[in-house]
Amino acid sequence: MKLLFLLLHLLLLHNVSLTMSSSPCEFPAIFNFGDSNSDTGGLSAAFGPAPPPNGETFFGRPAGRYSDGRLIIDFIAQSFGLPHLNAYLDSVGTNFTHGANFATAGSTIRPQNTTLFQSGYSPFSLDVQTWQFTQFKSRSKFAYDQGGVYKGLLPEEDYFAKALYTFDIGQNDLTAGYFLDMSTEQVKAYIPDVLEKFTIAVESVYGQGGRAFWIHNTGPFGCLPYILDNLHILSGSEVDRAGCGSPFNDVAKSFNAKLKETVARLQKALPLAVFTYVDVYSIKYDLISQAKNHGFGDPLMACCGHGGRYNYNKHHGCGSKITVNGTELVIGKSCEEPLKRINWDGIHYTETGNKWVFDRIVGGAYSDPPVPLSMACHRQQPE
Ligand SMILES: *[C@@H]1O[C@H](CO)[C@@H](O)[C@H](O)[C@H]1NC(C)=O
Ligand SMILES: *[C@@H]1O[C@H](CO)[C@@H](O)[C@H](O)[C@H]1NC(C)=O
Ligand SMILES: *[C@@H]1O[C@H](CO)[C@@H](O)[C@H](O)[C@H]1NC(C)=O
Repeated sequence: MKLLFLLLHLLLLHNVSLTMSSSPCEFPAIFNFGDSNSDTGGLSAAFGPAPPPNGETFFGRPAGRYSDGRLIIDFIAQSFGLPHLNAYLDSVGTNFTHGANFATAGSTIRPQNTTLFQSGYSPFSLDVQTWQFTQFKSRSKFAYDQGGVYKGLLPEEDYFAKALYTFDIGQNDLTAGYFLDMSTEQVKAYIPDVLEKFTIAVESVYGQGGRAFWIHNTGPFGCLPYILDNLHILSGSEVDRAGCGSPFNDVAKSFNAKLKETVARLQKALPLAVFTYVDVYSIKYDLISQAKNHGFGDPLMACCGHGGRYNYNKHHGCGSKITVNGTELVIGKSCEEPLKRINWDGIHYTETGNKWVFDRIVGGAYSDPPVPLSMACHRQQPE
């Protein structure tokens, strides 16, 4: 009886249910960690705004996202009736009542030994993002307790235990090696180290009371123009039927297989947590390789960009301008029908693409365990 009481108490305390409960989770907040796939304003706040036409489809202005509109994390927040997440780094007009976003474009799991200006990788790697979370949690409690305006801008203390913790990061760790001229074998060789650092980050959030974890695997980055255009190491045999670079996608798959094992290990080691591993790779690859059947135009062509086989030029990205005879010209322009495109700027997905992926994530068919997003607080019975 005493044990039962204790167990009940634990369950209530942690908002985690060990039974096959069928009531949807009521996450009062979301805390997100990641890279540009889920950056809602972090890099923009720190290093200057994403230029127009980013944001044109949904926000009607640049909104700190590298897309014409919403990202998967925006659709996740909306599905719980929560506002879009503000970036932790954003100091103007932000409201963190229902969560915060620590993701920045260019973030890696492992800190890189180069600056943003040398290599384009963000200094806000996953370890830094978890330090920021630690500060956010302790300092927001202090500020909230002061009352006044802070009470309307910060999460309640118990939201941290009840929140959904989402992770979408890893792609940049893999591309970093290639941009340093490493071979596929060399990139594969450091994946275990990357996942060790990932484990440390998750353990840190768990140690601070995080319980529901929703983890996206990495996408088929071998299908993205910035890879196809920049890394001319592909021979014909290394391009698959969809036009994607197979070695890169093989590395992504290899990372994902190990990420899945890592998540399974974390689930064993952290019994009060509920982990969901989401196979975003398969959804994105299906979207790209079957683009026509799904009603989209050329999946390898950037909508917003400038020239070349993929409408992608690393020196003239989406929104970039040049000055001709004293007149400023935008040369990184949007395409005519962004809603019919998958790739936005050579690196990121369009809002329609993101929505398509979200619609397949939400039901749980691509998740392990196969639970819908709305049930991601319920622990599955061990087999
Ligand atoms: C950065 O350098 C340190 C020290 O040499 C090394 O341990 C670490 O693996 C390097 N990080 C990356 C991402 O290469
Ligand atoms: C912050 O957002 C929440 C939820 O959307 C809202 O209830 C609250 O009033 C907002 N705070 C301020 C100061 O506007
Ligand atoms: C710039 O000005 C020069 C001299 O008037 C002219 O020859 C050239 O065509 C102009 N270039 C563009 C792109 O308008």
